[in-house]
Amino acid sequence: MNEFEKSIKEYLSNKTYKHALGVKDTAIKLSEIYGCSKEKAETASLLHDIARDIPLSNMRQILKESGFWSSSHSPVVEDPLLLHAYAGKIIAKQRFGTQDEEVLKSIELHTTGGESMSVLDKVIFVADFIEPGRAFYGVEKARILAYKNLDKTVLYIYKFILRHLLSRELFICKNTLLGYNEIIMKM
Ligand SMILES: [Fe+2]
Ligand SMILES: [Fe+2]
Repeated sequence: MNEFEKSIKEYLSNKTYKHALGVKDTAIKLSEIYGCSKEKAETASLLHDIARDIPLSNMRQILKESGFWSSSHSPVVEDPLLLHAYAGKIIAKQRFGTQDEEVLKSIELHTTGGESMSVLDKVIFVADFIEPGRAFYGVEKARILAYKNLDKTVLYIYKFILRHLLSRELFICKNTLLGYNEIIMKM
């Protein structure tokens, strides 16, 4: 474990830290196949869930102080699952000194996806879904697809997320719909 990994471990539960390492290994493999920076994939993977174990009230505080908090984001700020990606971006920047906008964007989009995703964004989005610690119905299919076609895997994940949200009548984040539409139009 290097110094960077040590400092990240202090922020995370054992479960989340293990997940972050799984995402890192997966994202490195995908970065080699699809051609994005291995170093950026590694940094983004380790930091992507840096806010995952922070209490909701603290996450809200972080977002408030950063100026992110606004009424237009209200559905997001009520949902810790969506919120941790935004708070994670801020923590990565402010407390881990990550200035790389590409890395920060991939952290922000890792839960919802979105429009105009870079290869790095897609690699992190997919790696988060398929890392070896993930065990749910449908993950095996995504794992096979991920090493064949990155865009088709992203679409597969959007469909998975949308089915999940629709079946439970949950809020659908605008970014997910925009990302889904964009990829459908492209194919
Ligand atoms: Fe996450
Ligand atoms: Fe994650």
